[in-house]
Amino acid sequence: MANSDYYIGLISGTSVDGIDCALVQFDNDQPNVIATHFKPSDKKLREKILQLCRGKEIDLELYGQTDTEIGRLFASATNELLDKASIAASSIRAIGSHGQTVFHYPRGEFPFTLQLGDPNSIAALTRITTVADFRRRDMAAGGEGAPLAPLLHRNCFYSPEHNRVVLNVGGISNITVLHKNGQCCAFDTGPANVLMDYWIEKHQQKTFDKNGEWASSGKVNQALLELFLDEEYFSRPTPKSTGRELFNSSWLLGKLQQLGEQTAAEDVQATLLALTVNSIVTDIKQLVSPDQVYVCGGGAHNGALMQGLQQSLNNCTVESTAAAGIDPDWVEAIAFAWMAKQTVEGIALDTSAFTGASEAIILGGIYQA
Ligand SMILES: Nc1ncnc2c1ncn2[C@@H]1O[C@H](COP(=O)(O)OP(=O)(O)O)[C@@H](O)[C@H]1O
Ligand SMILES: [Mg+2]
Repeated sequence: MANSDYYIGLISGTSVDGIDCALVQFDNDQPNVIATHFKPSDKKLREKILQLCRGKEIDLELYGQTDTEIGRLFASATNELLDKASIAASSIRAIGSHGQTVFHYPRGEFPFTLQLGDPNSIAALTRITTVADFRRRDMAAGGEGAPLAPLLHRNCFYSPEHNRVVLNVGGISNITVLHKNGQCCAFDTGPANVLMDYWIEKHQQKTFDKNGEWASSGKVNQALLELFLDEEYFSRPTPKSTGRELFNSSWLLGKLQQLGEQTAAEDVQATLLALTVNSIVTDIKQLVSPDQVYVCGGGAHNGALMQGLQQSLNNCTVESTAAAGIDPDWVEAIAFAWMAKQTVEGIALDTSAFTGASEAIILGGIYQA
């Protein structure tokens, strides 16, 4: 059977919670989600990934083996998705695989970003042409390499009648501002789940703070919040992007040490949630007076966070992207399915408003089935 116009998007984000897989058909750049699958992270592999994220001294063997292991997992997640949907691999035109970021450093003389998940393994084990390594091509064109999903946000959420913001609350949070006049911009606002997940795991042995309940049980420590916000990244001009290289356990523990007083663990969690809300809202208010904020990523399920956002943005609605027709859990995977389509069709993408790349470019390398 000839390849149809089905595409699969795969991503494991900064939270390292698991692999999001979406099988999508596109109608004039509008996604029609056919099937989805989530493959949760295995604890051992997650620890290896976090070790690589932390490390300046990288064990080459660990690096290489983890690359292959993640590639194989992305392939098995794809095969599970196809089984679930009863769709043959031959019906898929291409996979767009983001991979797993282990390092993202867009600054300095030799900026680089590194996503693991060997695309050769994905193509070999799924028998589907795989497009991968999207971010490095953007960086080579002078861009930050991130965020890229705003390209899809613009296709799906732009309205000539309303100023809109798409807010993706993953490990790191990023916003896409879509002015009704057609102007848009996007960047990473800073840390979100990455620090809250770390803190609840350390104190409660849970992988995340469900609905922000633990944070809600604590009180915001204003002095700590000010120390958190006293971070050069927040005032850095755009384009900008960030990750675990900056916002990690050392960053948080350093701030707590600077505070120099005992703080209840739940108050730290409350303050981390306040940091997430505060940094996002400050950035939004500087750029636009939105009518609607649509939230995607795991943070859309955090009721306390959604409430905090709505309270600070009281002149607009704050809702999950589901209100605009796209399930918040799959927006990023859909974006990489769409990017794979652009790559195999040879379409150059203009990311200049989002990443600062100097020209429109065809993103991603193609690994033939
Ligand atoms: N019900 C929930 N309540 C609070 N937080 C949640 C919930 N579901 C998911 N999350 C958060 O979302 C994160 C995953 O979000 P995701 O968008 O996949 O981020 P990433 O792109 O970094 O992987 C989890 O690690 C968790 O912190
Ligand atoms: Mg995730």
